[in-house]
Amino acid sequence: MYKNDFPFFSNNEFVYLDNAATTQKPSSVIKASSDYYSNYCANTHRSSFGPANIATQKFEDTRKALKEFINAKSNSEIIFTKGVTESINFIAHSYAKKFDTVIISSLEHHSNIVPWHMQNRSLKKGLKVVACDDNLNFDYSHFEELLKKHKNAFVSITHISNAFGKIHDIKRITTLAHKYNALIMIDAAQSLAHASIDIQDINCDFFVMSAHKTFGPTGVGAVYVKETLLKEVDPYQTGGATIQKVTYNESTFLASPYVYEAGTQNIAGVIAFHEALKYLKNLDFQTVRKEEEDLYEYLHQELLNIPGILLYNNTQEAIASKSFNIENIVHDDIGILLDKMKIAVRVGHHCAQPIMDKLGIIGTIRVSLAFYNDKKDIDLFIKALKKAISMLKD
Ligand code: ALA
Repeated sequence: MYKNDFPFFSNNEFVYLDNAATTQKPSSVIKASSDYYSNYCANTHRSSFGPANIATQKFEDTRKALKEFINAKSNSEIIFTKGVTESINFIAHSYAKKFDTVIISSLEHHSNIVPWHMQNRSLKKGLKVVACDDNLNFDYSHFEELLKKHKNAFVSITHISNAFGKIHDIKRITTLAHKYNALIMIDAAQSLAHASIDIQDINCDFFVMSAHKTFGPTGVGAVYVKETLLKEVDPYQTGGATIQKVTYNESTFLASPYVYEAGTQNIAGVIAFHEALKYLKNLDFQTVRKEEEDLYEYLHQELLNIPGILLYNNTQEAIASKSFNIENIVHDDIGILLDKMKIAVRVGHHCAQPIMDKLGIIGTIRVSLAFYNDKKDIDLFIKALKKAISMLKD
């Protein structure tokens, strides 16, 4: 029933199961973006004529809505970016580079690995990876060992794994990190679409978010920075709208969030993101979550019935994304055939090559769900998968 709110589904025959890559957008999001361009297209925080004032107000309304959505304390804690990748690069560069050690989990995507390599960190120097067990569970004792050993550490950990759907207990991880005086950033790229967030309860220091994986537009993300840390975060990019006063000799800067939002922002995108947040707020979250869990279990059980199935984790502490392979069949070949049968999944390494290496594979077929998916989608996918397998085995 939710699909009626998303034009993609009336304009496409595809069964869309690639929500970890990006989610579909409800009509209200698309309309808000087009309204900005059609009716009040003007820059924000600069000019003071009518449409410019409307644009600025609506841009700031999204900040307030996001602040409320994650229960942050103040608007100044919410900084808009291009997305999770830019958010992580920002905090890595403007804050975390001073730490001797960065600790990540085994399940990170490249956006939470490559920025650390750019600081010349590797397993030999300055980068530590928390082990996981055969079901991809985070190893809390290993994490604690690392925290004990590395006194000046910054922890950067994903909440929900994009490739395998594993959910990390971010409150427990944050509490442990703080016990050893480490600071912590949570990569919430996959979170807002599947979990309700209370940032004050989690108590992490940084929290990075994506709009396009949360039913909003592409090219928009945000970083939450705990208020008490704002003064310690350096500007990332500088220029228009970040400054208080510029002379030929020096620049002085505005306070957060403006100091961190250099140049003209993705105004339409930020404004439209507000509609995605409103849409999510209007859903009965408990029901939606239960439906998603049931659908995830159903998908898992259906996959278990496929001969030659290779799964990498069960449904415990996992949601939305399910990765698998079929014995003796190359995942890319399955992807090509599924596309022909109008099933949208992602095949490959899912921007998470290190965990693929650890599992001894080069990639998987990944089904990733959102609340608008239903049993019919899974049935159509399983039917197409069986057909693809029979074609490739012949
Ligand atoms: N991180 C995105 C994915 O998982 C691109 O597909």
